[in-house]
Amino acid sequence: TPIAVLISGRGSNMRALVDACDDATYPARVCLVLSNDPAAPGLAWAAEQGLPTAVIDHRAFSGRPAFEAALNARLVRAGAEWICLAGFMRLLTATFVNTWTGRLLNIHPSLLPAYKGLHTHARALAAGEREHGCSVHFVVPDMDAGPLIGQARVPVLPDDTPDSLAERVLGQEHGLYPACLAAALYGYPTLEAARAAGAAHTG
Ligand code: GRF
Repeated sequence: TPIAVLISGRGSNMRALVDACDDATYPARVCLVLSNDPAAPGLAWAAEQGLPTAVIDHRAFSGRPAFEAALNARLVRAGAEWICLAGFMRLLTATFVNTWTGRLLNIHPSLLPAYKGLHTHARALAAGEREHGCSVHFVVPDMDAGPLIGQARVPVLPDDTPDSLAERVLGQEHGLYPACLAAALYGYPTLEAARAAGAAHTG
């Protein structure tokens, strides 16, 4: 399945997905690495690998709808069938999300539904959590709220700083994302099943 990976920065999760796709038995291949920021280090890495890359700079557009129309056109032109958000720092509107529902995934550095949004590691430390981690979920219009596909957990250690905790979580992200993408591509869980499981957990 052709996938596009959307980044804004370092792109280490994108790299993990690219590495997974190098295995002929893996059910995806990367047809586009796209960044909203021309300076994203991950973009340069992808170009060096000979992967198709694109920049859709949000600052060049008058508003979100125009930005997303250009984004969508580029994704369609690349033949993307699924999209993986991997440190993509733009919020997407319901119009865009609904176009891709069930084929649009995100990775978030917390055990959702805890710690949606930014600064998750610092917030988990400040709250005295003993466990932290990361989540891969289907994207819905509400931020970091979509049905979960999978999670990975790490302990919070006594001497942790936000950076040391982030590094431990990131190590898990790199295994979790390819595993969850493959599972979702194989149809387990489907968006509907993930929704139903989420509803059961949260009452
Ligand atoms: C990761 O922690 C990811 O979970 C979050 O942003 C970070 C991106 O890191 N959404 P990278 O660009 O994949 O290295």
